[in-house]
Amino acid sequence: MFSRCVVRSATATSPIQTSFLRTRLSSFVGSTTARQCRSPISSPQIDGRRYISAYGYTQAKALVYSKYGEPKDVLRLHTHSISAPNGTQVNLRLIAAPLNPADVNQIQGVYPSKPPFETKLGTLEPSAIAGNEGAFEVIATGAAVKGLKKGDWVIMKRTGQGTWRTHAQMDESQLIKIEDQTGLSPLQVSTVSVNPVTAYRMIKDFCDWDWLRAGEEWLIQNGANSGVGRAAIQLGREWGIKTINVVRERKTPEETEALKQELKDLGATVVVTETELLSGDFKNIVKEVTKQGKEPIRLALNCVGGKNATALAKVLAPGSHMVTYGAMSKQPVALPSGLLIFKDLVFDGFWVSKWGDKNPQLKENTIKDILQLTRAGKFKDIPVEEAKWKWDTDATELATAVQGTLSGYRGGKGLLKFEGDD
Ligand SMILES: NC(=O)c1ccc[n+]([C@@H]2O[C@H](COP(=O)([O-])OP(=O)(O)OC[C@H]3O[C@@H](n4cnc5c(N)ncnc54)[C@H](OP(=O)(O)O)[C@@H]3O)[C@@H](O)[C@H]2O)c1
Repeated sequence: MFSRCVVRSATATSPIQTSFLRTRLSSFVGSTTARQCRSPISSPQIDGRRYISAYGYTQAKALVYSKYGEPKDVLRLHTHSISAPNGTQVNLRLIAAPLNPADVNQIQGVYPSKPPFETKLGTLEPSAIAGNEGAFEVIATGAAVKGLKKGDWVIMKRTGQGTWRTHAQMDESQLIKIEDQTGLSPLQVSTVSVNPVTAYRMIKDFCDWDWLRAGEEWLIQNGANSGVGRAAIQLGREWGIKTINVVRERKTPEETEALKQELKDLGATVVVTETELLSGDFKNIVKEVTKQGKEPIRLALNCVGGKNATALAKVLAPGSHMVTYGAMSKQPVALPSGLLIFKDLVFDGFWVSKWGDKNPQLKENTIKDILQLTRAGKFKDIPVEEAKWKWDTDATELATAVQGTLSGYRGGKGLLKFEGDD
């Protein structure tokens, strides 16, 4: 039911009121000279510091693009000002925002949801703000805002709202409040709404687990070292579902062993490399760990595709589901006909953006549940490669961090961490 979901992102950022102080400074990544637009009145920076006017306007920067392409070629920093919030508007300061593969695919123009190109922020050309996920702090609220106050942490209700920006003005209705920040880090809050929610829903919604057989049923997944994969391992552990996890080999056997151990420490039951998965011996490994098939593998989670996905499907118990949610190898999923005819396997797709738009309340509840597990220490942090975003960080530095997102074999997920004032 989720497999053919292709939607255009319907949400847009709330209107940013143009101030007389509006200044446009757009430095294109990859170009040696900053492209500076004429400002009618003032410069946004004094001695390199961010300028906040006496009229309550906040200076902000956003990573925007006005055409599709590689992040290093098309991302640029746009400086603009944000007025004091009106009515139900809320002004926000970025805390942290992850760099997810889908964000890069969106900038490349190969992702099904495409934020609209607009001029609301005062860009010369219609532009989209990059980023879909992130944690923000409330810095000011309009008089009619009911559920938020200064200092609260919020995340976006929907994807496609543009999170790679130092400050934003949004309507209260576009935001989810983090009810209790205690024991939560910016990293945990900024990465909760996409990967963990995807893992949670795929495990819950595509398999009718026999809870009386807790500890005797399995799921198998590739891309197990990804954010989604790590979340699936930990949810499996919590819910009594054993996991077979496929990762790619590292440069040395020692590094591969270290990665396997890391995932086992999270709760993975079995970790194999892609080479082991594709070897003739894999069937025997599966037989042995599943007690000759008495413990069925009832769900496969696939974010890689190609032969890797086919190999997952082959070890599924009859009547099981394989959910495809990513295509990191860019190879199609090829299925032997026998799996469909004789094993009655079901092949689904899942897209958290579309699912979240259709199930907003369930999405909020899922997030709350995951944050509760996080507070209880049952959901460990993903490794990250932090890119600090200070007020004077240039666009090239930020875009370089973004560009590395799809390169693989990384030490961790890229994370933009804003270190600036309200
Ligand atoms: N459908 C949805 O709703 C949804 C939601 C969230 C994520 N996703 C998708 O899920 C996937 C993982 O996202 P994420 O944010 O969790 O990832 P991530 O934490 O950024 O990690 C990327 C993962 O992809 C693996 N990878 C990269 N290239 C690969 C290749 N050619 N073959 C096999 N594996 C490869 C990497 O493996 P190494 O560790 O070996 O480098 C790494 O584990 C992406 O495809 C993403 O678009 C989909």
